[in-house]
Order: sequence, then structure tokens, then C-alpha cells
Amino acid sequence: MDKLKIVGGIPLRGQIHISGAKNAALPLMAASLLASDEVILQNVPHLADITTMANLLMHCGLEINMPVAKTESFGHTLSLKPSGKVETDAPYDLVRKMRASVLVLGPLVAKYRRAKVSMPGGCAIGTRPIDLHLKGLEKLGATVTLEGGDVYVDAPLGLQGAEITFPFITVTGTENIMMAATLARGETKIINAAKEPEVVDLAKFLKAMGAKITGEGSDIITIQGVDQLGGCCHRIIPDRIETGTYLAAIGITNGDVELIGADLDMLSVVKGELIEAGLSFDQTKEGVRVRRTDPQKSLKNLTLKTDPYPGFPTDLQAQLMAMMTLAEGISTITETIFENRFMHVAELLRMGANIHIHGSSAVVTGVERLKGAPVMATDLRASASLVISALAAEGESIIGRIYHLDRGYEMIEAKLRRCGASIERIA
Ligand code: UD1
Repeated sequence: MDKLKIVGGIPLRGQIHISGAKNAALPLMAASLLASDEVILQNVPHLADITTMANLLMHCGLEINMPVAKTESFGHTLSLKPSGKVETDAPYDLVRKMRASVLVLGPLVAKYRRAKVSMPGGCAIGTRPIDLHLKGLEKLGATVTLEGGDVYVDAPLGLQGAEITFPFITVTGTENIMMAATLARGETKIINAAKEPEVVDLAKFLKAMGAKITGEGSDIITIQGVDQLGGCCHRIIPDRIETGTYLAAIGITNGDVELIGADLDMLSVVKGELIEAGLSFDQTKEGVRVRRTDPQKSLKNLTLKTDPYPGFPTDLQAQLMAMMTLAEGISTITETIFENRFMHVAELLRMGANIHIHGSSAVVTGVERLKGAPVMATDLRASASLVISALAAEGESIIGRIYHLDRGYEMIEAKLRRCGASIERIA
């Protein structure tokens, strides 16, 4: 199994190209099941999760043209079109690899009136049920049956528009119901909908296919069902979580990097916090230049709480915590979205961080230095926090189980190496 060897202490300098957003690409790929013609997706990142979704969609009957990843090239254009053959199940060996596989439920039921999906796997962060997806589909008239770890969703007469109120915000739940409602009869209202930029990108994509959607990006999304959706061409938005990960890496290493293609409008809360911590941002022609406001000074402590968009993203909690390990004073980070999302803490402690967990909060007391150590990645974003700490730690770190990292970060070693980092993949 591959590992990453990182020798820390080198400030990152240069340029990093921001890839297309994984969490936008996955629902858009699933939504392609709804189209009766070819769909072209541009700026799709080369990632293990994208390959998993492509395999699942090919199993369901899409013909996908996906160029093989070239070394040191970022992003690619995917073509997805119906092959004529249809399978409405998502088998366990594909679903267990990635929770986002559940995104095929809505499109399959909407178009083919039935779906069978194994209960999802993915990152081990909390229990992560899909009850809200299923309750939403029931509201749209489907029947849901659970049997032997599989979920059967049937709507023999097709879906019927309805009002669905989510008791709390769910991103893929909102996406699944929005996709399902595009082909339902009549009007659907999703109340307390997720407002994440990836949800807005999905709505934009569905509208380009002919869907009638209003209110995306607000608490209430309204969908008027249509008879069929056609093909379209769409460019995936930049990855705000990848961007935030590199911001933390630049901050902790006292670097100076231009993030090409970054869109900080999607990260305004994070940007505000990082300015408070001591980073400065200058808009450039192609992106944004990021460095410390005063390179002689340490970073300042922060108090953060994760929240649904536009709040501080849970997917950046681990990375900012890594950065805070070397900040002055005491930082507090509270996780409100997922239980069990502090698995990186034990590994950061091995590198010399001072962190105490009190329920859903982590109290981070800044230390003078981190020391390289062998550590183990536990989930996607936790892995990124270990890379960030290792880049700043004295000496060598070996990070194990980096398959987690490959699920969500396109060419991370190449990108960091181009900015001077000492990082290599070892067998
Ligand atoms: C998406 C993102 C993930 C991110 C998360 C929160 C994708 C592919 N993944 O995950 O990277 O960390 O949003 O921003 O976009 N919940 C239920 N029942 C449900 C659905 C969710 O109880 O049916 C709970 C979850 O356990 C969690 C909370 O709701 O505590 C929010 O989860 P949700 O927004 O659904 O996360 P995902 O869409 O899975």
C-alpha cells in the first residue's frame, strides 16, 4: 500500500492549480442518468471517487468516455450518454467504496421508476444514515423497503411533486430530491434545503438539461417537473475544499503561493477567519496570491464552529486544526455536523501537537514546533490535515493509508512538489 514521505520545514512557494470540485462532479455525473442525450462535463478532477462513480454509472447503463489520467495534467472532459441498456441497481462492492453512490437513487427512481442501492460506505465519520433521502422519496410517492442491507425504492406510477421539509440540512439529500423532482409530475418544494455551491452547480446543470428549478442557493428550492431532460455541456466549479486545504498548507509553512483558478467567494467565512489568523489575499489575473501578512509573526489563534454553507465547512475542520497547532495561543474548534470527526487528533498528537477534546470541541494550544512521525490517514480530510502538519514539521513523516487522500485530492504530491515541498509517494 502506498505511503507518503514528507520532509517538513520548507515554505511553499509558486503556483497551485485548483481542480474541479469533487463534490460537484459526483452529483452532476449521477444527474447525467436523467438525460436522454449526451452530456459533456468539463473540469472533472482525476480522482478515485470519480472513477468509482463512473464505474457505477457504466453499470447502470451509461456509456462514458473518460480519458486516462496523464501525469501532471489536471482535469478532464467526460462524455456520458445512455447506451440503451439499463440496470437500476447500485451493487454493494461499488457503493461500499463511496457514500456518494447514493446519489444515483433519485435519478434512477425518477427516470426508471425503481432503484436498488446497498447501504452506503465512504468515510468513517459518524453513522451517516440516508433516512432523509428515503423519507423525501417517499413524500414523492415512492415505496421504500429495506432488505438485507439493500434499499429498494419503487414508484411504478412515477413520482408526484410534493413539499419536503428537511428537519436539518443535508447536502446529498437535497441533491437527490432535487434530481428526482425534475421528472416528477407537478411541483416540488424543498424546504430547509442545503445552500452549498455544489447544490447550486447541480441546479445550474439540471437547468441546462431543461429542468425547471428556482431558489437554488436559498432555503427553499422549487422544481416544476418536466417530461424529459436533454443533453448539455457544463464546466464544474473549482474545488473550495481543495482550495481551503492549500490555504492551510500555505499558512502553516509561511508560504507565498498563487492559487490559480481559486474562487474565494465560495469561501468567504474561511477567508475571514484566515485573515484574522494572519494571512493576506491579493486577487491576481488568474486567481489569488496568498501569504502571511507579516512573515515574521506567528499565526494567531482562532475560534471556529462548523456549520452548513455559508458557515465554516466541516470538510475544512481537520485542515484548519492542523494549521492551528502552530498558532499562538489557544484555538477552539467545534464540530456540529458529524460526530466522530476528530480522528486526526490522535495522529496530530503523535507529531507533537497539544490538543484536548471536550465533547464536540477540540481545544488546540499552539506549540513551538511539530516533529515528523509515522502517522495513519483515517478519512479523506483527516489525511489532508496530516499532510499539512507534515509539511511544517521538523524532519520526516510517513503517512500511511493514503488511498483516502487519492479519493479527493488531484495530484497532491505533484502540486506540492512544484511549490518546493519535499514529498514523495513510496510503496
Ligand atoms: C456532503 C459532502 C461531504 C460533507 C457533508 C457536509 C458530498 C458528496 N459530500 O455529505 O463532503 O462533509 O456534505 O457538508 O457532497 N444525515 C442524516 N440523515 C440523512 C442525511 C444526513 O442523519 O439522510 C446527517 C448526517 O449524518 C450528518 C448531517 O446530516 O450528521 C449532514 O450530512 P449531509 O449534509 O447529508 O452530508 P453528505 O451529503 O453525506
